[in-house]
Amino acid sequence: MSTPRTLAILTTLGVLTVALLWVFQGVEPISEEDRAHPGTDPYNQNCATCHGRNLRGAETGPPLVGRAFELAWEGRTVADLFQYNRTLMPPGGGGSLSDSVYLDISAYILKHNGMKLDSVGLAADMELLSGIEIRADTER
Ligand code: HEC
Repeated sequence: MSTPRTLAILTTLGVLTVALLWVFQGVEPISEEDRAHPGTDPYNQNCATCHGRNLRGAETGPPLVGRAFELAWEGRTVADLFQYNRTLMPPGGGGSLSDSVYLDISAYILKHNGMKLDSVGLAADMELLSGIEIRADTER
């Protein structure tokens, strides 16, 4: 085996090892479904510190799933939730994200409450969103 070829192989293996270590380092398991959801990353980056990565709340923020969420949001509309998040969350930083990101995050929260809402292609159209009633399903 010629030396350049050996070097090339070793370099490739080295790069692959570093890449794999980087990918797996400190990554919490995320379900396949969440991995594909556009709201997952922005939620984890902007909301999870206070509401928990699993949305079950923390000392710094109330849970966004289960009975508490159902009591607060059942019967209201997707427009209400979107508007709440967009103007008030994160506290003091309302409006810091784009409308489409707030919409993706809202859909992500609803998905975790058993309500499938495809935010892909869903416009931040208040008239449209106010026609969709929130029906949380805690029995899921
Ligand atoms: C610094 C901590 C913090 C961050 C970050 C944060 N929140 Fe909150 N969130 C709170 C607190 C505290 C409340 C309770 C506010 C109240 O009751 O007035 C709350 C309330 C909520 C509620 C209402 C819950 C209910 O039961 O009605 C929603 C929905 C929500 N946050 C979504 C989000 C979203 C979406 C993000 C990210 C864009 C986010 N929050 C980021 C602290 C935070």
